[in-house]
Amino acid sequence: MARKKVVVFPGDDTAPETVYAAMEVLARLAPDIDYVEFPPGEEWVRGKTSGEARAAIDSSDTTLFGSTSGKTNAILYLRWGKQTFANVRPTRYFKGFASPLARPDGIDFVIVRENLEDLYLGLEGPLGMLAPLALTSRITREPIDTDAKGIFAIKIITERNTRRVADFAYRLARKRKAAGGKGKVTCSSKYNMLRESDGLFRRIVEETGASYPDIKYEEFIVDDCARRIVQSPHDFDVVVMPNLYGDILSDAAAGTIGGLGLAPSGCYGDDYAYFESVHGTAPDIKGMGIINPTATMLSAVMMLDYLGFADAARRFENAVRTVYAEGKMLTPDQGGRAKTADLTRAVIANL
Ligand code: IPM
Ligand code: MN
Repeated sequence: MARKKVVVFPGDDTAPETVYAAMEVLARLAPDIDYVEFPPGEEWVRGKTSGEARAAIDSSDTTLFGSTSGKTNAILYLRWGKQTFANVRPTRYFKGFASPLARPDGIDFVIVRENLEDLYLGLEGPLGMLAPLALTSRITREPIDTDAKGIFAIKIITERNTRRVADFAYRLARKRKAAGGKGKVTCSSKYNMLRESDGLFRRIVEETGASYPDIKYEEFIVDDCARRIVQSPHDFDVVVMPNLYGDILSDAAAGTIGGLGLAPSGCYGDDYAYFESVHGTAPDIKGMGIINPTATMLSAVMMLDYLGFADAARRFENAVRTVYAEGKMLTPDQGGRAKTADLTRAVIANL
């Protein structure tokens, strides 16, 4: 197999501490990877140009990305530039995770979050801008008062994007079914209220299911879905939703297994994917050496699978599992007293 090229953005605030921990493990696993490493966000803003970042990404196989508070703006290129339309966020309980639930064993589902549109296009502005449109509310049947002081935001749902993320979700459900999964796609949006936009999302996901007769389909309005994620997470397999709901509910989902320190993600397009934790940059614990690197480590596991290094991926994942099952080297967010470096050493020792 040819060597792979991986770009690394360590990210902002405390995120680099997790990325460097994951890279230490990757170095021991030594898959055939060459790394192109950029500096953390704080150096980045004064440092390399984004043109350089783009060129590195374009000539790479994938990117490992530390969370950003906005300083590492390469995320815009990694999502919209590379059209990584499916944000895959697994929620999987490993024995030893500090779940707040009484019976977290067996929680194993994936949120597939549409990653490019919805309210994430930054289409906002003063209400006055809408005046020429003479809009009427479908709910109140009154004209919108565009003289009021206020801001609008536009939500866009396209058929094309919904169809490709739906297809991705069904294919993932099929793959999981082959490995013993439930073979089910759940669609969630606020289709009872946003009948046109979220209604379109719901309709396209359901229609797409016709091409996957082996996969079950169900749908829940997003508020109900949020409650189910907390109360009966075991019932889910693959859950597909628009961007903003997926953002919010993937944090909620992480909460069911023990928090954001444990939640990985990968953003996949047709010809590129990149990997990042679900969590933010945890500025409150910067430099303390106590951030939980597990989310970034498990994102690196997803990256290894994407690159075709399945054996290394299993070794990495099993080592993480062992460390949690033993429960001796856990970071404070998991109720332990270990440092980031202790947990990293323990993972390496169990490879
Ligand atoms: C995430 C983050 C990002 C998002 C932010 C940093 C823009 O919260 O990846 O979940 O909302 O997508
Ligand atoms: Mn988020």
